[in-house]
Amino acid sequence: MAKNKFYVTTPIYYVTAKPHLGSLYSTLLADALARWNKLQGKDVFFLTGTDEHGQKIAQAAEKAGKLPKDFIDSFVPDFKNAWQLYDIKYDKFMRTTDQYHIKGAQHLVTVLIDKGYIYKSVYKGWYCTPCETFVAEITEDPTSPEATKGTEVVQGPSCPTCGRDTHIISEESYFFKLSAFTDKLLAFYQNNPDFIAPKERTHEVTSFVESGLKDLSISRTTVRWGVPFPQDPLHTIYVWVEALSNYITGVGYGQPGCENELRKWWPADVQVLGKDIIRFHAVYWPALLMAADLPLPKRLLVHGWIKVDKQKMSKSLGNVIDPIELQKKYGTDPIRYYLLRQIPINQDGDFSIADVENRIESDLANDLGNLLNRMVALAEKHGVMHVVPQEGMTRVSSLCLNADAFVLVEEFAGHMNNYMFHHALATLWKFIHATNTSFHEVEPWKIAKTDPQMFMTVLSDTCHSLYMIAILLWPVMPHKMEELLISLGIRFKLEEHAFKNIDDLCKWNKTFTLKKIPTLFEKQALAKATGEVRHSFSDGGPEPIEEGQSMLPQEEVKVSQDNYITIDDVMKVELHTGTIEACEAVEGSDKLLKMTVDLGSMGKRTILAGIRKSYEPAELIGKRGLFITNLKPRKMAGMESQGMMLVAEDENGNSRVVQFPELVKNGVRLK
Ligand code: MSP
Repeated sequence: MAKNKFYVTTPIYYVTAKPHLGSLYSTLLADALARWNKLQGKDVFFLTGTDEHGQKIAQAAEKAGKLPKDFIDSFVPDFKNAWQLYDIKYDKFMRTTDQYHIKGAQHLVTVLIDKGYIYKSVYKGWYCTPCETFVAEITEDPTSPEATKGTEVVQGPSCPTCGRDTHIISEESYFFKLSAFTDKLLAFYQNNPDFIAPKERTHEVTSFVESGLKDLSISRTTVRWGVPFPQDPLHTIYVWVEALSNYITGVGYGQPGCENELRKWWPADVQVLGKDIIRFHAVYWPALLMAADLPLPKRLLVHGWIKVDKQKMSKSLGNVIDPIELQKKYGTDPIRYYLLRQIPINQDGDFSIADVENRIESDLANDLGNLLNRMVALAEKHGVMHVVPQEGMTRVSSLCLNADAFVLVEEFAGHMNNYMFHHALATLWKFIHATNTSFHEVEPWKIAKTDPQMFMTVLSDTCHSLYMIAILLWPVMPHKMEELLISLGIRFKLEEHAFKNIDDLCKWNKTFTLKKIPTLFEKQALAKATGEVRHSFSDGGPEPIEEGQSMLPQEEVKVSQDNYITIDDVMKVELHTGTIEACEAVEGSDKLLKMTVDLGSMGKRTILAGIRKSYEPAELIGKRGLFITNLKPRKMAGMESQGMMLVAEDENGNSRVVQFPELVKNGVRLK
């Protein structure tokens, strides 16, 4: 039986510069999706590439004193190298200057002409070159005295996408009858409510279409760096129309002999794109396809923007993050994990080095890497190499962990199939915590000699959990998870490990042959990197450790003891219950909220907390929380904070106030 197919695309990237974190993000999402579908046994095709025509490229090349093609050729290897560094396994890298694409794009326009959807007229209006977008048409002559003052052209509208200035163009142009598709598009959105993921984004698209569509200018006479318009080479095809067609020319459209290829892959199952280019993909692209009698993509996956300190990355702000530098400092898989775990796909996300380091240290090195290391080291210490399931041996903890495993696979698959990578990973980490608890609970280092059967059971549970974790995490961290599997005696092969039925992962009947491998996630590397990166990003992070000092336990019990604190340490912290009576934002700070807290017999205190991102002040009023009351008062934003409120981060990185039940009065000390 033929395998199910899965065709995923990324936007094609402008090649006026090297790839940045945003281009990496779009491509990484597509790679994770491609791998997740391969894991489900599907036949996958993953297309990415570069958008190489248009005025923007021509101008950049001219500025660099190069011919456009030479200019582009100098950047394309940077994209290919970056994708290779990040283990992005595309099936085809399409360049819009490739002949098959040029022919395919021309074929699409010819079909539209033949079907009567193209006519010639004059376009007068405002154009944004950075976005290659027609912003607004002008009905009067833009060179007339009303539109100009002497030689100075009146200020046009700024571009709705990037906010930059636009300029007037006035030229003969071919138009696509987009207006004829208003009703068809609206009916399509209504009949296909899942077309745009996340669904929340559908509204902005439907409102745009409902407001009435104008015909679209699809050729330029003044842009010579483009694909010649069929039947009229004085014109070039508008770069967006040509670029969008890459999704079909990349799988054989317009190429004689490639009909089967096209039939096999098109329509795409998922097209990944950023929110800034939604209109092109959700309005123009479907209309062009409808006009050409081609099926529409099944899903558009629209992601938010990665910002730095809540601002758009830009050279002028000096906050552009270079993905190559990041990879050098933190490695491929940790950054893949960070981007998919930290940035919620349906929102804009803030990039921070402190978060990168925190995720590596806490999630990867401590929770996952240490678990594997401890288990393998302990087994080795007690001479166990082959871990075999123990017939008839049940311990409550094993049963619970196995039950958790069933829940995990269902929830994880649900989130992945909904493209909610951050939720999928949060769910998986809950299971990693459960595995850690199940492992430590019986103190296996104590029972290794006295109860070898129980010892073997604990090892077997842990190996099975780690096996599942590695398979499920493979789409996110392929290389590291293949290493993890080697430590369990398994060489990962897609044909063998792709699952027909995901529940099979929960059948805990395997035998593992353990092998020591180098530490999976190096905190030491992290500590070395911290110095350099902190320097340029001035952000917090863990203290560097000394060269040669191992961060991983040599001996189970000793390490835990190193981390203990005594009851005296605990008693030093005075924790009291209290109710937030008033709350307001602190002027001049985008982080701080100022609260008046009623601490019962201890009176009222002013306490500041950096949680403005997560709460509106009014939401906090009336909440009962926990406060550290003997923290030395600190000045923040010119105000004194007389304590500290306990908060915890949720899976989206929002701070949540730790709340206390009503039963206990305000001002009661926790013991
Ligand atoms: N060439 C067009 C796409 C044509 S597709 C037929 C283009 N190129 S781009 O290089 O400017 O952007 C490509 C992708 O990168 C878009 O999905 C865009 O949203 C994404 N990103 C660019 N900067 C970004 C961030 N800061 N954050 C997340 N992604 C953003 O548009």
